[in-house]
Amino acid sequence: MAQYLVTGGAGFIGSHLTEELVRRGERVRVVDSLITGKRQNLAHIPNVEFIEGDLADPAVAQRAVAGVDYVLHQAAIPSVPRSVQDPMTSHTANVNAALNVLIAARDAGVKRVVYAGSSSAYGNAPTLPKVETMPAAPLSPYALQKFVAEEYCRLFTQLYGLETVTTRYFNVFGPRQDPSSPYSGVISLFISALVEGRAPTIYGDGEHTRDFTYVANVVDGVLRACHAPKASGEVINVATAGRISLNDLFRTIKNLTDARVEPIYAEPRAGDVKDSQADISKAERLLGYRPIVNLQEGLKKTVEWFRTSQVTVA
Ligand code: UD1
Repeated sequence: MAQYLVTGGAGFIGSHLTEELVRRGERVRVVDSLITGKRQNLAHIPNVEFIEGDLADPAVAQRAVAGVDYVLHQAAIPSVPRSVQDPMTSHTANVNAALNVLIAARDAGVKRVVYAGSSSAYGNAPTLPKVETMPAAPLSPYALQKFVAEEYCRLFTQLYGLETVTTRYFNVFGPRQDPSSPYSGVISLFISALVEGRAPTIYGDGEHTRDFTYVANVVDGVLRACHAPKASGEVINVATAGRISLNDLFRTIKNLTDARVEPIYAEPRAGDVKDSQADISKAERLLGYRPIVNLQEGLKKTVEWFRTSQVTVA
């Protein structure tokens, strides 16, 4: 039994990682500022040690990593538009906190840090699918911040021998994704609107595409990245390798929910990437990763969750 720290463990992806680790019989500590995470996300998971605190404070990071074998660094303010509105708050959460975690992990002798990177690092480079060898071209403060922390991970492996792996996520969705802010992930916004009979908004013409990834795939990829012998120092896409337009996504969710509304089209969003799709051959090679839940199945599970839980939308 190893000791894990899940930063941002009360958030959407962090709570799924925590749940799976507990299911596997591991010891889990969560640190979360509860700025975007919620205690409620962990309420059904037994035996989780919880620290409320902000990792932008080095003392919180030191306390959180004490006695830990593996750190899954998921804490972030995960929003492109929010970072465009308020780059400094995002920077503090996405870069300063990550650096504090790396320093604390190095000093505490942590075995490996797995960092939640973002596909936004690829920007609008026209080549699809996105391969890890492509240069980063961030289009928003969020994308740049997530990339800077990736580079810190790589550097900490090179300079200090701290094992790190960056898993680059591609538009993750699933149960417990919070739809309550205009900055929320699009699938949570579409499903919560359609389940309640409201019209969702599509920014732009709806022909931009994304590699939407059901959260169980990410959990599998991250836990593999934690232990794969050849993954240290690497950046690895974790996704499904498919892509769907926002218009087709809307139609699919409309069918699944039997909704009768049509979307409202609005101006394109600043900092938005046009197309995103992952090459996952590196994850297959280094992690033995294959997506386990496809888009259609994942959407069904997510719609079911939104129907059966009391999700409140502001
Ligand atoms: C980006 C990153 C992703 C990261 C996420 C955090 C890329 C390719 N992906 O996601 O890795 O985790 O930021 O925020 O950069 N949209 C609508 N209507 C809505 C909301 C969104 O049409 O109500 C559109 C957006 O304009 C965008 C797409 O849906 O084109 C997805 O948006 P969103 O879910 O916010 O994620 P990304 O910005 O793609």
